[in-house]
Amino acid sequence: MKTLVLLAHPNLEESRINQRFAKELETLPNVTLHALYDVYPDEKIDVAREQQLLLDHDRIVLQFPLYWYSSPSLLKKWQDEVLTYGFAYGSTGDKLHGKELLVAISTGGPAEAYQAGGYNNYTLSELLRPFQQTANLIGARYLPIFSVSSTFQMSDEQLDANAKALAEHITREW
Ligand SMILES: Cc1cc2nc3c(=O)[nH]c(=O)nc-3n(C[C@H](O)[C@H](O)[C@H](O)COP(=O)(O)O)c2cc1C
Repeated sequence: MKTLVLLAHPNLEESRINQRFAKELETLPNVTLHALYDVYPDEKIDVAREQQLLLDHDRIVLQFPLYWYSSPSLLKKWQDEVLTYGFAYGSTGDKLHGKELLVAISTGGPAEAYQAGGYNNYTLSELLRPFQQTANLIGARYLPIFSVSSTFQMSDEQLDANAKALAEHITREW
């Protein structure tokens, strides 16, 4: 199984969590790490290249820090431009049927905030519904999300353990 990690962090050099995660993932066999903001600093996405990358992999991981309860904007642009009619959806848009989609996120807020009654009110599964329904529409199997919370308080030891847990989560059979 080949896994494509689409990493969307607008400032990876100043990132602590996602940069550490990227270091872990790039050592894995059969995992292609594709850092969108580094590949497209001008944000001009090469649609044919991106579609070919999708075709070449079985599992697609969307890795990003949660920004305003969603992804950083380049990943949204990537969805708008790459998941085209006739490729990803529509009567002949079956190219992604049978793939797997997995969202891996980091949040500044603590885990207990992401529930009814917590200050963010909604669970991460609820907030990430657009990704789930996108998977449904393109015929991909939506896998359980991976998340780390309270990133501002995370120790180096916890970060290392979370990086290993992420690697296990995205490479295991589901
Ligand atoms: C523009 C912006 C929006 C953010 N929105 C959220 C949010 O909605 N919920 C949350 O828990 N954290 C939010 N954060 C915090 C980031 O998710 C957190 O800093 C990030 O996951 C840490 O990962 P990094 O070290 O790779 O940057 C936001 C941060 C920024 C800069």
